[in-house]
Amino acid sequence: MTTTPYPPELLRDVEKRRTFAIISHPDAGKTTLTEKLLLFGGAIQLAGTVKARKSARHATSDWMEVEKQRGISVTSSVMQFEYQGHTINLLDTPGHEDFSEDTYRVLTAVDAAVMVIDAAKGVEVQTIKLLNVCRLRNTPIITFVNKMDREVRDPFELMAEIEDVLKISCAPVTWPIGMGKTFRGVYHLLQDQVLSFVPGEEKRSHAGIIKGIANPELDQRFPLEIRQLRDDVELIEGASPPFDLDAFLAGQQSPVFFGSGINNFGVQEILQSLIDWAPPPQARDATARMVQPAEPAFTGFVFKIQANMDPKHRDRIAFFRICSGRYSAGMKVRHVRAGRDMKLANVLTFMANERVIMDDGVAGDIVGIHNHGQLQIGDTLTEGESLSFKGIPYFSPEMFRVARLRDPLKSKQLQKGLQELGEEGAIQVFELEGGQMLLGAVGVLQFEIVAQRLKDEYKVDAIFESADIHTARWLSYPDELTRRNFEYEQAMRMGKDIDGNPVYLASSRYNLAVTAEKWPQVTFHATREHGQVLS
Ligand code: G4P
Repeated sequence: MTTTPYPPELLRDVEKRRTFAIISHPDAGKTTLTEKLLLFGGAIQLAGTVKARKSARHATSDWMEVEKQRGISVTSSVMQFEYQGHTINLLDTPGHEDFSEDTYRVLTAVDAAVMVIDAAKGVEVQTIKLLNVCRLRNTPIITFVNKMDREVRDPFELMAEIEDVLKISCAPVTWPIGMGKTFRGVYHLLQDQVLSFVPGEEKRSHAGIIKGIANPELDQRFPLEIRQLRDDVELIEGASPPFDLDAFLAGQQSPVFFGSGINNFGVQEILQSLIDWAPPPQARDATARMVQPAEPAFTGFVFKIQANMDPKHRDRIAFFRICSGRYSAGMKVRHVRAGRDMKLANVLTFMANERVIMDDGVAGDIVGIHNHGQLQIGDTLTEGESLSFKGIPYFSPEMFRVARLRDPLKSKQLQKGLQELGEEGAIQVFELEGGQMLLGAVGVLQFEIVAQRLKDEYKVDAIFESADIHTARWLSYPDELTRRNFEYEQAMRMGKDIDGNPVYLASSRYNLAVTAEKWPQVTFHATREHGQVLS
């Protein structure tokens, strides 16, 4: 091994970054935990800010009307704050399963995830899906079992369920003492101390910490619960693996914390585990080579495009993860896909309740670039080198609709609207033979949002009609003759995606199987990388 030639200051700054997302099934307590993390991190002064922001957005942003009606959070945002000499980037993810593609893309930009489980409900559907996404990249997971102030399930049963259903080994770091009305706190297995529970307390006082599981003070304070705790701890030490940092970093073992987000309990331990155990930015695969985070040359990729973050501006922001080097205001970068240079000016960073102009950023930081259509999801920016970060795929949609206009004179606006919404990743857009526009989505809410946005932002009233399509497959051909023959024979089932790639639109699983069998020389792809042009 050669010694690393990385600039020491850059290396030091990169090591201080922690970039993570919170994943959970809706209602498990993600928003509450986000808010409490920001509160403990000093990024907000008062609880209620995040929730208030949620409803302020509802009040002012019309396309989020759908969100308001459904009471769900669709968009995702980023927040940066300092904690114990570290810079923490917290990426929010949409909770609803219909926006799972968006969540997937956000998860490509993090180095760790905190998984929130509702202790009364255990592992839920969306938890399983999100964990599977994290597993694709072996993202380290910290587990927070929330709502211990309620009557919940037995903690051993919960641990077994997480292990069985999510196929990840669990290492309890804190263990609950009681639950619901008799929730007394947690025992920290690694620190051998009890942290007692006082509802709503923001900073733990010294009196709240009792050292040593054998400490007689525990018998006095918790006469009814202490025996159970000592039995539990003995069982855990016999049956559960101890926390293993390497297994955690490899995504194989999750440290588990119990608490109550709404009562600020357990939040500090989560923050501490992020600082102590979650990895700083890692090397990233960029097709041509691995890019190390402390390399001096600036690189990164766009993982999300969001419109209407601020309804007053009606702008589109490209969310960009820095993968190496240092951002400096006004720097010139290479837009690799477009093959041209661009200047990065007025780049934004996101604090809890405001956006501010960024003046310095390193690997792990997320910046917002004002986008006027030049940037798409998956785009790489560098300081000249021709490389392209991998791992942001389009998935084959699961439902399809043909867009039809009420007013045929608006076809230009419809095309423009769908093109832009497609580039944003709000929906997938295909063009059919004859010029009709086909929309593909993972969940039906995506269609509702698109219809609403077409109306509000593009003044287009479109009707979405069901289409006789079961799934889509991107195609690649061995040669030009095969392409021509295939597309001639299958003209009725052909379409093009937003980048002009040929797509086969199968009417059923059977139809796909028959066609694939008949054309063994053609390759049918269920996913495509953003920006990838298939031959
Ligand atoms: P989400 O973002 O994952 O969807 O969940 P969110 O934080 O909005 O929490 C969902 C509900 O669970 C909220 O109640 C919230 O107050 C409650 N909650 C979160 N953490 C805890 C906890 O530790 N203990 C208890 N008992 N409840 C918790 P809500 O009634 O839906 O909303 P709200 O009126 O309280 O805002």
